[in-house]
Amino acid sequence: MSEELRDRYIALIKEVLQFSLWPQPPRPIESFEPLIPRPSRQLALRVLRGVSGLLRPWKLLIARDVQPDPARLEQGEVWPWPNYGETMLGPRRMDNLEHCVRTVIEEEVPGDLIETGVWRGGACIFMRAILAAYGVSDRTVFVADSFEGLPTPDPETPADRGARFHEMKDICVDLESVRENFRKYDLLDDQVVFLEGWFADTLPSAPMEEIAVLRLDGDMYGSTMDALENLHPKVSPGGFVIIDDYCLEPCRAAVTDYRARHGIEDEIVTIDWAGVFWRRPG
Ligand SMILES: C[S@@+](CC[C@H](N)C(=O)[O-])C[C@H]1O[C@@H](n2cnc3c(N)ncnc32)[C@H](O)[C@@H]1O
Repeated sequence: MSEELRDRYIALIKEVLQFSLWPQPPRPIESFEPLIPRPSRQLALRVLRGVSGLLRPWKLLIARDVQPDPARLEQGEVWPWPNYGETMLGPRRMDNLEHCVRTVIEEEVPGDLIETGVWRGGACIFMRAILAAYGVSDRTVFVADSFEGLPTPDPETPADRGARFHEMKDICVDLESVRENFRKYDLLDDQVVFLEGWFADTLPSAPMEEIAVLRLDGDMYGSTMDALENLHPKVSPGGFVIIDDYCLEPCRAAVTDYRARHGIEDEIVTIDWAGVFWRRPG
């Protein structure tokens, strides 16, 4: 593949994974879940879903039309989460991921690529696509998730006290759906390995020796700390560590605690309103 074609493929798949080439189609009310379900909204939703169900025989449905604000999107803020996109990273963090994966390939930094916290799998699909575009066959993309959403907060972890991510049904994407998303892009093969389960259970025995790109997107203190404790020591010299949720206080606290405990002083670089990354010394 020519370099021009390679770069066009990477640019195109990046847009498609974000569903950013088209306006967001309205979302059928049957599949819409409020982030933090309030009883009054639940009742309204039940009524609307019932009516929508009655309309189905006529191929009609009730749908919710919410478009992202272009100015906020430009700053990397993806809200509401995409109805049909495969990732909620937004343009800036996708650009950053591209930069990190291209750099480790071009500079031959050894190791595999992993994301802890994948939702619909879009960021991992993007990493696999970049490997394919460069014809890299000796690196694996590890896809780590419970595939059932976030855990209930551990009472032993004060920073996660009161967290309600586990109530968000929209964040639960099962393993078969994520596999199917890889398949859609013709990127499901033996260079993709799924680590299914809670990070605390799967990451201690994660079957890779070296990591070139470690991308953390688990939102909570516990999820961030589990990933750092188990995977950061495997990051190769010159490898990248990306923290998607640095904007969230519990995640930032886990990063601060881990770095202090292990004496890590690599410069923290801001990606956008939410994410940061650092590079291990080469
Ligand atoms: C914000 S979403 C990830 C978004 C994704 N990176 C993307 O490209 O859109 C957070 C994900 O982390 C997973 N998660 C969070 N904490 C976890 C844990 N302790 N163990 C396993 N999965 C976890 C959730 O299931 C969810 O899929």
